[in-house]
Amino acid sequence: MYVQNAEAPPRKPVTVPGLHAMKAAGQRIVMLTAYDASFAWHLENAGVDVALVGDSLGMVVQGRASTLPVTLDQMVYHTSAVARGLSATMLVADLPFMADRDIAHAMEAATRLVGEAGAAMVKIEGAAPHVLAIIEALAVRAIPVCAHLGLTPQSVHKFGGFRVQGRDEAAADRIVAEALAVQGAGADLLVLEGVPTALGERVTGALQIPVVGIGAGPHCDGQVLVIHDMLGITPGKRPKFSKDFLAGNGSIAAAIGAYTADVRSGAFPGPEHCFS
Ligand code: KIV
Repeated sequence: MYVQNAEAPPRKPVTVPGLHAMKAAGQRIVMLTAYDASFAWHLENAGVDVALVGDSLGMVVQGRASTLPVTLDQMVYHTSAVARGLSATMLVADLPFMADRDIAHAMEAATRLVGEAGAAMVKIEGAAPHVLAIIEALAVRAIPVCAHLGLTPQSVHKFGGFRVQGRDEAAADRIVAEALAVQGAGADLLVLEGVPTALGERVTGALQIPVVGIGAGPHCDGQVLVIHDMLGITPGKRPKFSKDFLAGNGSIAAAIGAYTADVRSGAFPGPEHCFS
């Protein structure tokens, strides 16, 4: 792992067993995206547990309409940059669109993101049989995996837009079954995006691994947001599940500190950020 942020306050490095222990102890996990070393430095200094180099960078950094155009080279580039700003915060990187087309491509992508760029964990969307096989193959090679279910942005065309998932009983049951399947395949963490609060609570209660929500209600084991959304700098309408933490906090450091404190205390997300 790159250890570049020598100015960060000393902290025990966040590890996979450490995240599991946080769930067991009822301590909320704070996760936030970052795409470069300077923002990573702020995450580290605020004590954020997990930095995610999301393929959301395609939208908030590159100005694309979806995450689909993001390439593996771009993920490696941004992950390397973020790694240089971190010290104790765990670094997770997204497998980009179609890196899951077969096990060989997924292995190659994970090898570059972990071995070359410095990620400690890779994130993969969905729970289709080929995705479960990839999670198993990575887990066997001791590469920690974060699964991602619910509103999975790489499925935007299939969903017909960025729509809340799991609203009816059959869809909710399917997401619970998928969550159990990714856990069974060896995932160490789950990001659950864009589902009703009751389903977020159900999935969190059903799993042993920590569940980090984004638009999945207050009952998840932790929360994640896209940093541009929580600083209010994403052009256009702010997503309902996000909050502008820069407003009223005066600086990026204070905004990230407030987000960290509010996730830890359970003050964020409030009812106005949730789907019923
Ligand atoms: O790409 C991303 O930033 C993500 C988060 C929205 C969880 O997947």
